[in-house]
Amino acid sequence: MTVHTEPIFDVAQLAMVALYTPKLAESLAFFSILGMKQVHKDEDGAVYLRAYEDPYKYSLKLIPHHEAGLAKVSWRATSEQALQRRVKELESRVEGEKWVEPSYGRGSAYEFTTPEGHPFEIFFDVEYFEATGDNSSKLNNRPQRRPLHGIPVRRLDHVNLLAKSVDKNVDFMRDALGFKLREYLSKPTGEKGASWLSVSALVHEIAFMEDDLKDHYDDYRFHHVAFWYGDPQDLEYLGDALTELDYKIEAGPLKHGVSQAKCMYVIEPGGNRIELFGDTGYLIFDPTFEPVEWKESDAEKAIIWYGAPLPHSYFRYGTPVVEDLEIKQFYDDIKVIKAKVVEPN
Ligand SMILES: [Fe+2]
Repeated sequence: MTVHTEPIFDVAQLAMVALYTPKLAESLAFFSILGMKQVHKDEDGAVYLRAYEDPYKYSLKLIPHHEAGLAKVSWRATSEQALQRRVKELESRVEGEKWVEPSYGRGSAYEFTTPEGHPFEIFFDVEYFEATGDNSSKLNNRPQRRPLHGIPVRRLDHVNLLAKSVDKNVDFMRDALGFKLREYLSKPTGEKGASWLSVSALVHEIAFMEDDLKDHYDDYRFHHVAFWYGDPQDLEYLGDALTELDYKIEAGPLKHGVSQAKCMYVIEPGGNRIELFGDTGYLIFDPTFEPVEWKESDAEKAIIWYGAPLPHSYFRYGTPVVEDLEIKQFYDDIKVIKAKVVEPN
């Protein structure tokens, strides 16, 4: 009989993501098309947004900055005790992490990074969104009425980070935070080329992909954040709306082999890649689920089960942007995107 390691259930979910944007107004216009509601603006000009089924006050924070990129990934612990257990573990691994004061929407948080510097925090105390007036839903289990404009996303789903060593990040997420490896692409060397990990029944709340440009920068890079629809037809409606408004759809709608998700990728005007999840794919309830390996010979169907192949930009473009002549036209096209404000009607 196989002996399994006792699982860790201390991290509950991906709760929030903060992104930098050099074009705040244009980024906000884009997220208005996704039906995301602005709930707060802080004194530094950062804007907090939510999807209508996000439970907490916000799930996305946009921070004005000179370039696009990831500012923070926020994880919620399952309890105060769980938070303390994870902090104790993190303190034993890396120096330099710290507690930070409560801020809009959440209590005290403990900041740390992946071994490659991706900025994370973990907290337990959180503020729930309380809808008032026209934002209230008559559906008792919905925290906010479904917006009547745009093609509204329902909730935050996952993040995807570029990595120099996927294995190093996978080991950290498993050992320090209790994530389960669900699927991975293996290289002929035996190293992982990409990985998908979760703490819930979802195939992933986080993915790491080896960066083709990993030798061209010192810091970390971000690939995308995904928001969930739950209905693949919404991708068709969104594709139609974005095309009307001259936004560039990078890829999809398509279906991945990994996770079996139905999705689409768009670069928001600030430069960050946003994924829209029509369907999360399959769910995992098996406590002894074995990670699914995709060898190099399977890579094509792992990436695209059906739909057009992913463009070259998908494997090279991330934020912050690394100057890359191979995808220069792709980046130039993003830079000219103007604000497309969609007024409710
Ligand atoms: Fe994704």
